[in-house]
Amino acid sequence: MDIEFWILALCALLLPAFGLLSFLRLDSDLTLLWASWMGRRPEQALIGMVVWVTGASSGIGEELAFQLSKLGVSLVLSARRAQELERVKRRCLENGNMRENDILVLPLDLADTSSHDIATKAVLQEFGRIDILVNNGGETNYCFAVDANLDVFKVLMEVNYLGTVSLTKSVLPHMMERKQGKIVIMNSLAGIVPSPLCCGYIASKHALRGFANALRTELLDHPGITLSTICPGPVHSNIYQNYLTREAIKARWPKPQEFPKMATSRCVQLILVSMANDLEEVWIANQPALFRTYVWQYVPIRDWIISRTQWKKRIEIFRITMDDPEGDHDKRPSK
Ligand SMILES: NC(=O)c1ccc[n+]([C@@H]2O[C@H](COP(=O)([O-])OP(=O)(O)OC[C@H]3O[C@@H](n4cnc5c(N)ncnc54)[C@H](OP(=O)(O)O)[C@@H]3O)[C@@H](O)[C@H]2O)c1
Repeated sequence: MDIEFWILALCALLLPAFGLLSFLRLDSDLTLLWASWMGRRPEQALIGMVVWVTGASSGIGEELAFQLSKLGVSLVLSARRAQELERVKRRCLENGNMRENDILVLPLDLADTSSHDIATKAVLQEFGRIDILVNNGGETNYCFAVDANLDVFKVLMEVNYLGTVSLTKSVLPHMMERKQGKIVIMNSLAGIVPSPLCCGYIASKHALRGFANALRTELLDHPGITLSTICPGPVHSNIYQNYLTREAIKARWPKPQEFPKMATSRCVQLILVSMANDLEEVWIANQPALFRTYVWQYVPIRDWIISRTQWKKRIEIFRITMDDPEGDHDKRPSK
């Protein structure tokens, strides 16, 4: 056989292997990857905008405020802890491209839906418009559904789901009047792929995904208003520390198992690209979470594969941790 045949055969073998290796290094879905190479840059697309971020006192929301502060935007920072919001404001002013009156600290409880119209009016009074609403604030849980108090489920629906729906409904009429605006909803890969030990959280995020997908169809009449659903996998933040201090969900549950997590700054860079390019739904995660989501979305026997390879192990580790809460479980192999 001639040399061309062997070269072609080698290419046929190497190309899929190269493709697989490249995929294993990805930390976002392919559309977002494309937008981060070829799409609009956040520093060009978002400059001058008025951006309202909920959950800005910690974790992803804090980092989002920080990175936005460098882009020449006006910021509204909301969460319940006013002191923490003031700390984030100082951080933005020290490092960002902003003046004091470019940032409004607006304490807000997502569960107190009766305050959302008033908060929206306060933002409009301060800046005259809202270009982007980032519904980021949220909480989680970590225990078996059967053991969780019903309050856990209520709090998570009130904060993660209803809080977001309510604030979005408060801001939408203003965007419709202006015929423009961006609604960003912080979901999670858990809003797509179910897993054990956080049923309340997952249910609230599934509800949120349904709300976003349905609302997008109603916005077809308003082409200037876009809705982006952001689905990160595990990211460094204070979500579990915060969960453990909540009265309503404080429990005897052990410290959650440590997963491999993405750096908050990288996650937020990709969120900004999604916002700049109005991407409808994005997945942001290191492996194996990203790979797992592709399997869940596209492989028919997904339940069987994922349950046996991942969730049984996770439950097993949780049970060991429950029996020995003081042990050094972070060193256990994690999936
Ligand atoms: N970290 C992850 O691995 C991960 C993965 C996927 C999705 N997410 C999502 O990312 C978002 C941010 O979470 P995070 O990981 O950055 O956690 P975090 O560090 O705990 O931050 C959560 C933020 O939400 C705010 N918040 C909580 N309850 C609130 C309420 N009732 N009213 C108003 N604000 C409230 C908190 O502020 P106050 O306590 O001051 O109110 C805090 O600023 C959440 O929607 C979460 O579901 C996180």
